[in-house]
Amino acid sequence: MLGNFVYSNPTKLYFGDDSLKYLNEELSKYGKNIQLVYGGGSIKKNGIYDEVVKILKENGKEIFEDAGVMPNPTVEKLYEGCKIAKENNIDLILAVGGGSCCDYAKAVSVSAHCEEDPWEKYYIRMENVDNKIIPVGCILTMVGTGSEMNGGSVITNHEKKLKIGRVFDDNVFPKFSILNPKYTFTLPKYQMVAGFYDIMNHITEQYFSNTDDCTSDYIMEGLMKSLINSSKIAVINPRDYEARSNIMWTATWALNTLVEKGKSTDWMVHMIGQSIGAYTDATHGMTLSAVSLPYYRYIMPYGLEKFKRFAINVWNVNPSGKSDEEIAKEGLMKMENWMKELGLVMNLRELGVTEDMLEGIAKGSFILNGGYKVLNHEEIVNILKESM
Ligand code: NZQ
Ligand code: ZN
Repeated sequence: MLGNFVYSNPTKLYFGDDSLKYLNEELSKYGKNIQLVYGGGSIKKNGIYDEVVKILKENGKEIFEDAGVMPNPTVEKLYEGCKIAKENNIDLILAVGGGSCCDYAKAVSVSAHCEEDPWEKYYIRMENVDNKIIPVGCILTMVGTGSEMNGGSVITNHEKKLKIGRVFDDNVFPKFSILNPKYTFTLPKYQMVAGFYDIMNHITEQYFSNTDDCTSDYIMEGLMKSLINSSKIAVINPRDYEARSNIMWTATWALNTLVEKGKSTDWMVHMIGQSIGAYTDATHGMTLSAVSLPYYRYIMPYGLEKFKRFAINVWNVNPSGKSDEEIAKEGLMKMENWMKELGLVMNLRELGVTEDMLEGIAKGSFILNGGYKVLNHEEIVNILKESM
């Protein structure tokens, strides 16, 4: 049963290969001081930086650069960004990049005017935001996280070996996001396919729960089918606009709070993946692909009906003459074949994980209880061992 809920998503999206022009319109809503957040320089190489700066200047904005946001943004970088925002009385934080830039922009947005240590307040104690929030806008260049239309913000603390994701309320969601599929054409293949798997896993994390009949599950099946189809095309021809635009749109809907409606959610692959990230700084999507199959094979008996449905509805497994378990297993095998076709990382060693890290990674994996099986520490260690 769907139950009772409130649905609101205030992010305005501009989609398409001419969408940057709408930045003019958006800029007119904010003051003069813009904190321009970007990563390690890809936007300078592919020309997006020049296009954006031109528009900012034409609109009479003063630009305060905040470059060098690393994949898996760190708490030290967050403090740096807060200093820029506070000292310059920033009116809008404009993130140009992937999930890391967008997550980081949200973190700065709530932290710049926070009187306490924002890591402790917002990421450890998970308190509500009670200080001024600086608006965020996003120009997306990497697809996967859904950060462009959600309140998620993941920050890594290497010293404490913790990578923690926080979901803020909708007053922290980007005010607007510009989604031009062409901007993703220059992504290295490794990042592109990692993003594809991130999308798939966002969906499965929300799909593998509950046993009732829920509209959200049908929406997710459609999104997964579209992703599988387009990813197979994009991996061969990364410049296929149709495929890349479908994937960009799917990524947004996979994690903008719509498909979780009426559901409890699992998120254990992400919990384990984030802890792997804290130990290795590996690419987010690859931390998920490396543990997914051992995880799903382990929990399958606890949610057999749904795994069977997944096999039939998403992977077109023919059920005739097969037991439920055989059908479910065949579905996961088809997912495995698709993952290999994309060239995803399928084991933890490739990400630099060593045996001596496994206990620590398991300890850093927050145990959630929304999926088909509540794991204990030993079970997480076993899944990690299987993933080596
Ligand atoms: O830094 P630059 O030079 O820009 O290079 C980036 C980076 O090295 C590169 N890149 C991005 N766009 C490009 C490009 N290279 C060439 N051409 C382009 N158009 O790609 C690399 C990865 O970028 P990043 O932003 O780190 O990737 P992603 O979008 O996967 O973001 C990962 C972060 O998001 C968090 C992850 O944990 C991780 O910290 N997540 C955020 C979520 C959310 N907000 O809801 C949910 C996710 O599950 C995830 O946890
Ligand atoms: Zn993810």
